[in-house]
Amino acid sequence: MGKVQVLEHPLLQHKLSILRDKNTGVKEFREIVGEIAALMCYEATRNLPTKEVEIETPVATAKVKVLAGKKLAIVPILRAGLGMVDTMISLIPSAKVGHIGLFRDPVTHEPVQYYCKMPPDISERQVFIVDPMLATGGSAIAAIEILKSEYGCKSITLMDIIAAPEGIQAVSEAHPDIDIIVTAVDEKLNENAYIVPGLGDCGDRIFGTK
Ligand code: PRP
Ligand code: URA
Repeated sequence: MGKVQVLEHPLLQHKLSILRDKNTGVKEFREIVGEIAALMCYEATRNLPTKEVEIETPVATAKVKVLAGKKLAIVPILRAGLGMVDTMISLIPSAKVGHIGLFRDPVTHEPVQYYCKMPPDISERQVFIVDPMLATGGSAIAAIEILKSEYGCKSITLMDIIAAPEGIQAVSEAHPDIDIIVTAVDEKLNENAYIVPGLGDCGDRIFGTK
């Protein structure tokens, strides 16, 4: 079974409380999604392998550690996942970015794919799928399926800001090899498959479409 990590860092929890507040406006909401993504990225990359190399400082020779192992890729699920990309790339400038466009059918809540574009060497990379919301898990499961079966990805981590227990269970059952990182696991889904208490429609709140 993949690992499920809930990040309880006080900064993350404080920023999350601002996202949840219905009075938070688009500008602040967008900024905070980015800040949370950066803090999550810091935790998600904590165990990346390093190797020792020798460099010359202005004073002496020093043995220093640099990133080793697989190159990284960030794959946002459109639209809302886009809000997490910029701050993550600023921390990992060499990461490549693939995009998967999925929206939930308003009646069935099943994901509908409308776009997919990946870097050519994505199968060799450690992939971080990013999406602020893990509700039924349908979108995440579809994205993981596409990356595994169409692109041959072997190493995938799922990063969501808020998850419903139903979504975590569904992803863990469908893809037991995937690690999931979130900042909160909420109570439940409502009859419209929205996370309760959640933060509402994340895409609409990031892009101001409602
Ligand atoms: C939201 C969210 C996830 C999905 C989660 O996207 O960003 O992708 O719903 O729900 P699920 O776990 O039940 O699949 P949405 O379909 O609203 O599209 P948008 O980002 O374009 O608004
Ligand atoms: N997508 C959202 O944006 N919010 C939810 O609560 C569920 C799915």
